[in-house]
Order: sequence, then C-alpha cells, then structure tokens
Amino acid sequence: MYLLGIETSCDETAAAIVQDDFKILSDVVLSQDEIHAVYGGVVPELASRQHISAIGFVVEESLRQARVEFQDIAAYGVTLGPGLIGSLLVGLSYAKGLAYYFKKPLIPVDHLEAHIESVFLEGARVSFPAVALLVSGGHTSTFYMKKRLDYKLVGKTRDDAAGEALDKIAKFLELGYPGGPIIDRLAGKGDPRAYRFGLPQMTDRSLDFSFSGLKTAALTKIRGAAMSKAHPQFNDFIASFEHAVIRALLSNLDRTIKVYNPSSLILCGGVARNTKLRARFEKFAEQRSLEAYIPSPELCTDNAAMVAALAVEKFKRQKTASFPLDLNAYPRGTPYR
Ligand code: KG4
Ligand code: ZN
Repeated sequence: MYLLGIETSCDETAAAIVQDDFKILSDVVLSQDEIHAVYGGVVPELASRQHISAIGFVVEESLRQARVEFQDIAAYGVTLGPGLIGSLLVGLSYAKGLAYYFKKPLIPVDHLEAHIESVFLEGARVSFPAVALLVSGGHTSTFYMKKRLDYKLVGKTRDDAAGEALDKIAKFLELGYPGGPIIDRLAGKGDPRAYRFGLPQMTDRSLDFSFSGLKTAALTKIRGAAMSKAHPQFNDFIASFEHAVIRALLSNLDRTIKVYNPSSLILCGGVARNTKLRARFEKFAEQRSLEAYIPSPELCTDNAAMVAALAVEKFKRQKTASFPLDLNAYPRGTPYR
C-alpha cells in the first residue's frame, strides 16, 4: 500500500511516497532558500506563489521516483498546520483535488506531530513513555508521549524558536539564510567557552522555553565588541552562542524529564540537524540511561516523508477525515492533536 504525503507549511514544497511498512519510496523537497535568502527570512507571499508554481511538478516527481501511478495511491496525507496560511492552503487545496478526483481518503496531518513521526521512518522501536524535543525555525516544544500518536504538549517557547534565534543572529551578522547550518559550520572552528551567556530561567517553574533573552544578549555583545566576520574571535563568538542555545534546550529537557520520567527521548525538527546538538543530546540520554532517537539529518528539516509516515499510522487506525473537502488550514496549530 502506498501513501502520498504533501507538505507546504513554510518554504519547502515537498511530496513523498511512503509504503505502509514506512519504507520511503521517494522524498522530493524543493527548497525556496534562494528566493528568500536576499530578504534574510521567509517572505510569506513569495512562499505561497512559489508553492503554487512548484506543487504539480513536485508531486509528479515523487511518483516518478517511486515508480508508482496516481491509481496506486491508497490515501493522501497533507499538512493542515501550523504554518503560513497562504503556503498551507496551496498543499491542502492540491491534496483535496487529488483525493476528490481519485476518490481516496485524505488524512489531516499536524506539522509538529509529523516532525516527531519522522523517527519511525527509520524503524526506531521507541519505548514509551517518551519525551520528544522538537526544535525548528518556527517552534521549540516538548511533547510527552504515553504511546504512539498520543502527543501531549508540555512546553513551548514564549517568544523566539531556537532556529529563529540562530537565523536572526546570522542575519544580523550578514552570514546568509538560513543561518542555522552556517552557524553549525562556523561554530565547529571556534571555542564555545570564549564568551559567556546566561541560562534562560522561567520564574514560574513552567517547562516553557525562551530565547529572546539570549538573542538580546548576543546583540548587545555584537554591538559592544563590534563583532563581524573580520573580528579575530568571530568563530569563538558563534560557537559560544550556539553552545548557549544548546545548553538552554538541554537544561529545559532535564527539568522536563524530572517531571515526566520517560524511558526514551526523541530529538527532531530542523535544528536537530545541528552536529553539536545531536552529539550532546545523545550524551545527555546516555548519562541518564535513556534511549535516544534522532532522525537522519535530511528527515529533520521539513519534508513530506514525515507527513506520509504520520498519515500511514493514522490510516492504519482509520483516523481519516470523513469529509475531506471540509478540511481547513490552521496556521496556529491543528485541532487534530
Ligand atoms: O523544521 P524546519 O525545516 O522548518 C520549520 O518547521 O521551522 O527547521 C528550519 C530551521 C531553521 O531555523 C534552520 O536554520 C535550522 O532549522 N537548521 C539548523 C541546521 N539545519 C537547519 N540549525 C542548526 N544547525 C543546523 N545544521
Ligand atoms: Zn518544520
């Protein structure tokens, strides 16, 4: 059985074919990075216009690479949110058209749940309960999972997402877009202990995150030291900032697991591509005798294989929309949690 997943929540136009045993037959991602790079961030209107011109080609390409025909697709999965409304509507409308024409079920997928689901694409046998740390450009959240498909949001960022903070500092330093991967590369050449950053603290003992304080502290240091690519300690500064972001993530995770006492930990989302975060997360889990799961780097950033994977799992449990044409987009988060 084959499922086709469609993902257009932000600036990647993506389609993938996944088998019911979670084998990925194709995973096509058309990035819009070049279009948005000149602006240093995603321009929503340009993103939706690019999706509308790319979606047909991307879906066709996913079928061609998987060597399957539209007639072979058992069901469609599509991201309903959270994300940019104009972008979401393109993928949703396209998926509705296909499901309607081929008279096949359309399965609503939450983008954040799909990120978590990406670990199951690689055969991970996660022991539950699990705590998932999702770190992306739009979100930084923790979920408690008692079992598969059971996602309880237990912490979220009150201001910037971790990826957003990395991207904004990179933009300020004129490093390019997206900034996360560039910071990852430069930080490898610097000393993470050269500059000191405080640890964000929640005054109300909540498990939420906050990154705006770290971002402001970084901007203050940049101005104070006239930090730029020409500065002799530039790589040290980048490494220290990245270190501070990772420390904030793991310190929150430490508080979260003390409350939820999981058997395993999942790390996912675009920032989970970060080499130092991956290594430190694994060490963190090992020190606490917890199992750790991180998807392969290409499955961490936005893709449609994760959407198709979640659709497979829901389809197996008959969690399909009864009237697919009624489905709507939810920029701030889906009601399907
Ligand atoms: O999950 P994603 O593709 O899109 C959202 O749902 O937001 O995540 C994109 C984010 C961006 O902020 C990007 O800078 C960050 O992931 N990112 C990285 C790395 N690769 C992508 N951050 C740090 N290190 C990386 N290697
Ligand atoms: Zn994402």
